[in-house]
Amino acid sequence: MWGPEGLDEVEAELLGPPEDLKGKDVLEIGAGAAQCSRWLGAQGARPVALDLSHRQLQHALRIGGTFPLVQADAGTLPFADASFDLACSAYGALPFVADPVLVLREVRRVLRPGGRFVFSVTHPIRWAFPDEPGPEGLSVSASYFDRTPYVEQDQQGRAVYVEHHRTLGDRVRDIAVSGFRLVDLVEPEWPAWNTAEWGGWSPLRGHLIPGTAIFVCERD
Ligand SMILES: C[S@@+](CC[C@H](N)C(=O)[O-])C[C@H]1O[C@@H](n2cnc3c(N)ncnc32)[C@H](O)[C@@H]1O
Repeated sequence: MWGPEGLDEVEAELLGPPEDLKGKDVLEIGAGAAQCSRWLGAQGARPVALDLSHRQLQHALRIGGTFPLVQADAGTLPFADASFDLACSAYGALPFVADPVLVLREVRRVLRPGGRFVFSVTHPIRWAFPDEPGPEGLSVSASYFDRTPYVEQDQQGRAVYVEHHRTLGDRVRDIAVSGFRLVDLVEPEWPAWNTAEWGGWSPLRGHLIPGTAIFVCERD
């Protein structure tokens, strides 16, 4: 699943036709509970699920799967050059790092020539709107151009949650300077069947403004 709209890889085929995934080495970045890796494994691929969070990987372990789980920072991948055919990330790592180019360069390094990296993030336009599912989430309340990170702190003033904003142009530039070729930018439309509200995502907003941006990049 690429995002809250409900676009899944069976429909999107952004990593290629599912039948071609068989035997492919695939790295999932910011895997969380590794649901993407579980699906990839079921297609006959050889996934590796990577996340910074030990807690998330414990969830992955509890749910199960026969693929490796790796605790590491996406900015310093513990793999040799050209180890993977494909890489993917559904809202993993990239929205949360101050230097996304570091991550993109690392992913490019571990991909084999011709390899694809497909990643989804919150659509940058959402930064300008309140994160509310109702009508209050439809009026611009902040600058789209303000790159000041969103930070939540604990009582001691330590950052416990940080999101970094990149404009659409920033993302395209980050991809280009990392040595990837941008093949596609998918902005899933909110489908009629999806009536779910989750955080700031809702049918009301989804029908009017994009919520997810999926970047399809290739290592030439
Ligand atoms: C929004 S969750 C997405 C999880 C999963 N991909 C999904 O679709 O449910 C973001 C994940 O990225 C991980 N993450 C954040 N920063 C990271 C980093 N620098 N390196 C690796 N993983 C990171 C978090 O621990 C978290 O599990």
